[in-house]
Amino acid sequence: FSDFLTDAFHRQHDYLRISVTERCNLRCLYCMPEEGVPLSPPRELLTTPEIVLLSSLFVSQGVTKIRLTGGEPTVRPDIVPLMRQIGALRPRGLRELCLTTNGVALHRKLEAMVEAGLTGVNLSLDTLDPWQFQLMTRRAGFAAVQKTMDRIFALNRAGAGIQFKINCVVMRGLNDREILPFVELTRERDVEVRFIEYMPFDGNRWSQGKMVSYQEMLDVIRGRYPDLRRLEGHRNDTSKTFQVPGFAGRLGFITSMTHNFCGTCNRLRITSDGNLKVCLFGNAEVSLRDILRRANKGEPIDEAAMASLQQAALEGSDAAPGTALAVPDAEELLQVIGMA
Ligand code: GTP
Ligand code: 5AD
Ligand code: SF4
Repeated sequence: FSDFLTDAFHRQHDYLRISVTERCNLRCLYCMPEEGVPLSPPRELLTTPEIVLLSSLFVSQGVTKIRLTGGEPTVRPDIVPLMRQIGALRPRGLRELCLTTNGVALHRKLEAMVEAGLTGVNLSLDTLDPWQFQLMTRRAGFAAVQKTMDRIFALNRAGAGIQFKINCVVMRGLNDREILPFVELTRERDVEVRFIEYMPFDGNRWSQGKMVSYQEMLDVIRGRYPDLRRLEGHRNDTSKTFQVPGFAGRLGFITSMTHNFCGTCNRLRITSDGNLKVCLFGNAEVSLRDILRRANKGEPIDEAAMASLQQAALEGSDAAPGTALAVPDAEELLQVIGMA
């Protein structure tokens, strides 16, 4: 494993999250205001060749898992070709290619994505009730999400092996009555439902009263399923996993508000405008985009520029760290990654 991605706390950052768009087709109450978020000028956003180039650099340095996020990743028009190019990094050491999505625009693209190398879907879904969905997301779309879920289950029955998780942010007075119906979903279905503590973000009108804690959720579930048992977690899990004995699926809790899990976090993040962030809560950001573009005279990197840069990157992947790309600025890029 490359020393570059090991930080001062000996955490090996082998999991990269890339935001591929700021846009979203929903307006979840806890995430976005009705009018949406201010959008960056297109020139400031990473191009597809830039995302692919960064992905290949990180994979050559030891990243084994890439998750595409947003906004909503499926609203990026070329999401499937983008995934195909990232999926092509599998022989270079990429083991997992995942998507965090609200599922509204996914069902038609799912097959093509699986073919491209998709291995996991985390579906953001806070309710199983169509009216509540409209209330919490301020948009229609529940039927489309159901189609997406059905397609995932059907593909998995046919052997696709997609790792499927549902992320459910629990808010008091809105969907907190749905904890048990979500648990029931795991009776017959091989899915992990993860309940998330509601977190404060800029302007999302967070209040302590609306947050339902891990302990409270656990009490509700234990009330109905007293034999709920804790499962062994993986080293870098941000969630605590449980199962009702005999159920096909699992339950998880993301306890961002009440139990800190930073010590085991192995995530690196790239924002849609190309900044590298080591922590969700940290403000330190470094522009990988500017470093990349310096090698291309400040211009966004297109297919042609990428072909030559990537060739150099991949050919050098067994070379000593820092020499993996045959352009001076790439050395700087690798040093930045090494500071993670
Ligand atoms: P897995 O690969 O399934 O472990 O996905 P994930 O949990 O890393 O990603 P996902 O996009 O599904 O995010 C689920 C929730 O975890 C979201 O609410 C995120 O805000 C939260 N989350 C992800 N990474 C971190 C982290 O490093 N710190 C904190 N506090 N929350 C995180
Ligand atoms: N609190 C908790 N989780 C949130 N998410 C978005 N905003 C918040 C918030 N304020 C979740 C989404 C998605 C995941 C990536 O983050 O539901 O599943
Ligand atoms: Fe935010 Fe995700 Fe909801 Fe879109 S679907 S508004 S990105 S939480």
